Amino acid sequence: MSTIAAAHIAIDRPAEPRLEPPPERLPAAALVKVRHLRKVFDVSAPWITRVTTGQGRKTLKAVDDISFEIPQGRTLSLVGESGCGKSTAARCIAGLQKPTSGTVSYRDTPIEDIADGASPYRRDIQMIFQDPYGSLNPRWRVGRIIAEPILALKLADGSRDVRERVADLLVGVGLSAADSDKYPHEFSGGQRQRIAVARALASRPAFIVCDEPTSALDVSVQAQILNLMRDLQDELGLTYLFISHNLAVVDHMSDTVGVMYLGRIVELADKETLFRSPRHPYSKLLMRTMPTLHSIGAIREPMQGEVPNPIDPPHGCAFNPRCPFAVERCRHERPEIRAVDGSLVACHRAEEITQ
Ligand SMILES: Nc1ncnc2c1ncn2[C@@H]1O[C@H](COP(=O)(O)OP(=O)(O)O)[C@@H](O)[C@H]1O
Ligand code: SF4
Ligand SMILES: [Mg+2]
Repeated sequence: MSTIAAAHIAIDRPAEPRLEPPPERLPAAALVKVRHLRKVFDVSAPWITRVTTGQGRKTLKAVDDISFEIPQGRTLSLVGESGCGKSTAARCIAGLQKPTSGTVSYRDTPIEDIADGASPYRRDIQMIFQDPYGSLNPRWRVGRIIAEPILALKLADGSRDVRERVADLLVGVGLSAADSDKYPHEFSGGQRQRIAVARALASRPAFIVCDEPTSALDVSVQAQILNLMRDLQDELGLTYLFISHNLAVVDHMSDTVGVMYLGRIVELADKETLFRSPRHPYSKLLMRTMPTLHSIGAIREPMQGEVPNPIDPPHGCAFNPRCPFAVERCRHERPEIRAVDGSLVACHRAEEITQ
């Protein structure tokens, strides 16, 4: 059983569903396709420093050739330690950052065409961030914050319609219509994240990129928000790309999981397969350090070893300095991702390693 499901907290819902699903839905096919996505940052010292010290340019491969698809109505999670490229991947996939190479498409339309132009798909894609306070304008009342996308996209006729739609959204995320008159600082962290969810839903999106949406919240509140997001997914048929460093959260939310290490996906599998038999040594390490039941904030065993400097990653398999199974080949040949027993795994020894 999922660790958070055990701590499921019922969410008061209105008798009638108040949030209608978006009008048109395609049959369950890959809604989002990510192909060979790469994002490289130039992290060189200033020109004058390079000239005086003889340093060359430096680059950092934040996301290094990741590929996957997300079927409609499903959740794919990316999990990994801080700095492994989750947020950069999320921003590129949401169209907020331009990839160095590779493609992201939504309903077979390139994401840059959706982000730049007047594509009808623009409203379909929303992002929820980790810090609910930072993502809400503190000087605006909640009603205005939630109404903004409705007004910008002309999704309601007249101010009465807008007010009704804002009220529906607030009730739909477990707040009350009267909350629209308050400011963000008048709410708790969990309530603010509910407001962020309501705002993200205001454009009636189909695909939501969620970057650590509950990491800043207390354990019990995390469970409430995650349960809310799952309920909304069932109700509205939403598709999620879910980002977290926490495997317990990922276990609760996902259909498919991509484990990231230094910019690459080292294992991609459906959730049951990954949790039953992790193949990559890094996935195994993450499992051992996974939070225990009822304590998604705590870890069972500290992570061993340091994440290498991404500007100067290890040769061969980037995980080799931390890997108990590393052999000579691992130190000079980078493993490509390949199918192993129903998972995709980037490890030379994936078939041999069983424990
Ligand atoms: N704008 C940027 N310029 C330079 N380096 C960046 C930038 N954004 C992220 N990085 C680097 O890219 C790597 C991945 O960062 P990030 O995507 O935030 O990882 P995560 O979300 O998994 O913690 C980190 O080493 C980070 O320092
Ligand atoms: S390729 Fe080698 S170093 Fe990398 S995870 Fe597999 S066994 Fe470990
Ligand atoms: Mg991040």
